[in-house]
Amino acid sequence: MTISREKLIEEMFEKGILINEELLKGDIDETLLEKLKTESDLIVLNDAYVDVIKQESSLIDWYEVDKVRVHAEKDRDDDLYQSQLQNFKNSTLTFEMPQKTQKQEVSSLEVEIDHTEDFNLGTLESSKELEKLELELPPLNIDQPSSAVTILISYENKPWKFEVADFTNFFTSRFKFLEGILRNRQELQNMLSISRVLEKKERENISIIGIVDEIGETKNGNLMLTLEDFTGKIKVLITKSKKDLFLDGKDLVYDEVVGISGVTGDKIIFAENIVWPDIPSTHIIKKGPEEEYVIFLSDIHVGSKLFLEDSFKKFIQWTNGKIGNETQRNIASKVKYIFIAGDLVDGIGIYPGHETELSITTIEGQYKKFVELIKEIPSHIPIIICPGNHDLVHLAEPQPVFYQQFVPGLFDLPNVKLVTNPALINIGKKGDFDGFDVQMYHGYSFDYYVANVESIRNGGGYKRADLIMKFLLKRRHMAPSFTSTPYYPGHKEDPLLIKKVPDFFITGHIHYSSVANYKGITMISGSCWQGMTSFQEKLGHNPEPGRVPVVNLKTREVKVLRF
Ligand SMILES: [Fe+2]
Ligand SMILES: [Fe+2]
Repeated sequence: MTISREKLIEEMFEKGILINEELLKGDIDETLLEKLKTESDLIVLNDAYVDVIKQESSLIDWYEVDKVRVHAEKDRDDDLYQSQLQNFKNSTLTFEMPQKTQKQEVSSLEVEIDHTEDFNLGTLESSKELEKLELELPPLNIDQPSSAVTILISYENKPWKFEVADFTNFFTSRFKFLEGILRNRQELQNMLSISRVLEKKERENISIIGIVDEIGETKNGNLMLTLEDFTGKIKVLITKSKKDLFLDGKDLVYDEVVGISGVTGDKIIFAENIVWPDIPSTHIIKKGPEEEYVIFLSDIHVGSKLFLEDSFKKFIQWTNGKIGNETQRNIASKVKYIFIAGDLVDGIGIYPGHETELSITTIEGQYKKFVELIKEIPSHIPIIICPGNHDLVHLAEPQPVFYQQFVPGLFDLPNVKLVTNPALINIGKKGDFDGFDVQMYHGYSFDYYVANVESIRNGGGYKRADLIMKFLLKRRHMAPSFTSTPYYPGHKEDPLLIKKVPDFFITGHIHYSSVANYKGITMISGSCWQGMTSFQEKLGHNPEPGRVPVVNLKTREVKVLRF
């Protein structure tokens, strides 16, 4: 049924969607409105978008499409825009994107979620009902394990008498590694050290690599940076008249290492291009030899009054093949790895008034409960766990593995592998196949980038973990700005560098699930198992609990199960 113009405007206004004039003349019906409900990041609606949405075959990052549309409208050359729309129309519900559409990322997972009517989980109210259901199902043949886990990087924080040199090492190692990547970039021609550029009297095309020391604005609203290398510091001007460059420039943050190409002036560079270390475009999606699955969880928050115990128990029942339809139980039988990216418990005194929101008020009690729950996960599945900011380890990163005296039970579970935050783990190695590298990071630095990077804030902030993760991968660093996370000094090298290009980048912390591809890397932000806290409400967070991203390692397809 077609709906009235007034109702349509009202409905769209409530959703924050701008609708174009042509569409108001008709052709929008209730079914389409219903479909629009799952497109949470849509801000403009036009004929072409309606066509794509009606196809119901794709997960769309509207932010990316809008960017291309705006470019198309601005330049009156809409080839790329049209081809993107076409790609969306032809795409299927997988995360394996064709080479051509590498630039598209996919977020907003709702379409992928197996709906509760066939999953049969949403209607279960209590543990009793779960038990009843369990008895009705035949026992499931659990595939016997061949899980291979190798911990590639997990840090040891040694007690150390810190000196200034430790601090210098931190930045020196960061600079040297990122400079090494940038030196090979073709966009950076005529590379010079900053001291050499400072000597130039004539206008000349040059490139430099530097660490961002200052970010300011001129009276006219241009960006003025100071970049530093081992030889000196120089000002770099990014003029607002070069719109794309200026937008790129606005994404710069303190302490990151970038390449700049431009024209020399008197002790200044007029920038023409900014180059980030980034992931090589040659990096491809790797696929494993066998159909097996990996699950990514985070932010369990046991001990909080808002911990969703029933949902978490349903998840555990599913890993045992005791609930779900046949397909889902079949997937459960092939789960070979589970990752938990921190915040196992809610902790004590994490934010003002925290104690009033706890159901378990001792830290030992919280971990005891956590162990009780996860020991019900089949013991043949390795569970790889790193801490988060709610856990009982220091906040400075790398955060160490848990302390045995506070979580004894966790150390007793033979299938649990404890690593630091961050850590790099290889899974699925077999025969000639060298497995998948999983970069694991809780994500404490994310708050800083949501608050300080305009493109992330305006792009959806906490709801767009994919933007944050892409931002970090481009910089090959999990916390490029020194103040974005507390750091533990004394490591020979900056431990938050992303030195090895991973196959998966796994995070948590923001309690909002997201899955996207970036240059062959599957980026997953875990959901959570906690309702909205008063603290999150104040910060404007809107958590999305109980989602479980499940990845088929043979196809690299991601499904999200909702519990
Ligand atoms: Fe959390
Ligand atoms: Fe957290």
